[in-house]
Amino acid sequence: MLRDEVLALLKAQGGVPLSGEAMSGRLGVSRAAIWKAMEGLRQEGYVISSAPRRGYALEESPDRLSPGELMAPGRKVGANLVCLDRVDSTNNEVKRRAVDTVPEGLVVVAGEQTGGRGRRGRSFLSPPGGLYLSALLKPDCPLEQVSALTAWSAVAVCDAVEGVCGIRPSIKWPNDVILEGRKLCGILTELELEGETAALRYVVLGIGVNLTQTEADFGPEVAPVAISLAQALGRAPRRAELAAALLDALDRLNRDFPRQWECWLERYRADCITVGRQVKVLRGQEERVGTAVGVDDQFALVVRWADGSEETLSSGEVSVRGLLGYV
Ligand code: BTN
Repeated sequence: MLRDEVLALLKAQGGVPLSGEAMSGRLGVSRAAIWKAMEGLRQEGYVISSAPRRGYALEESPDRLSPGELMAPGRKVGANLVCLDRVDSTNNEVKRRAVDTVPEGLVVVAGEQTGGRGRRGRSFLSPPGGLYLSALLKPDCPLEQVSALTAWSAVAVCDAVEGVCGIRPSIKWPNDVILEGRKLCGILTELELEGETAALRYVVLGIGVNLTQTEADFGPEVAPVAISLAQALGRAPRRAELAAALLDALDRLNRDFPRQWECWLERYRADCITVGRQVKVLRGQEERVGTAVGVDDQFALVVRWADGSEETLSSGEVSVRGLLGYV
């Protein structure tokens, strides 16, 4: 779409003016078409200055989740981008579109979910004010390595938040992203296997980050355990900026997975605040208290029980003392 191409050119200029003539030459369209695209962008809320002989410059962008705002050249993750104001669940939307001919990198972004899904069949409250994003990945690796993607993506979220906000959140094993002891972001990884061969068809990586929600938006049940960037920092970044940073981080993840295992494992261990703390492990009706003593090479949690024995957990419900309401 010409609008998106014009916007991409303006952004690449970083505020330096570009003439209508240069744009029409680069995009192979008339100057009248450039002018029309410019007017359209202004109507959407973009502030674009124009000066005779110097050309057009992008002064300010509205906080919109649109392909023009989020696209960047060279990224595989997000090369195919669907931006929606509202959807039942971005994970569901990726699955609906994930026929075999769709290459990896499809991303669905939404500003609100009406049926957001969490781990263990729970729902995930997804009011406006959050950023909801799912990516279709097709990693080339043995099935046993795929579950580590969920831990890697928590590191990727920390990278994106740090890049945009200047503070690095922590990770509660396996992949809750935490700020000030409360949950900033939830991640749901879903796999689709071939029915007959059980080979991996694709992975959907779903990420929900709290940006501008207030206590009232979270409601009385969720508010004590959730936090938004606006609550933590006094201001939230633009949704589009954080979404673009997330796409950059997921693209790096996708390029590195699984070859850069050691590097991501080291980064995960540095971010994970579960280790060294008292944990309560819930299995069915059984609840057991121990101490998390490490994250092993497969991103599993090593827990030491009161009798001194150790157990390695690769999944499960783990409450960490001091986080998310466990006192
Ligand atoms: C959890 O903490 O239980 C996981 C929450 C995952 C929420 C994200 S939001 C984007 C994507 N779409 C969904 O329906 N869920 C994930």
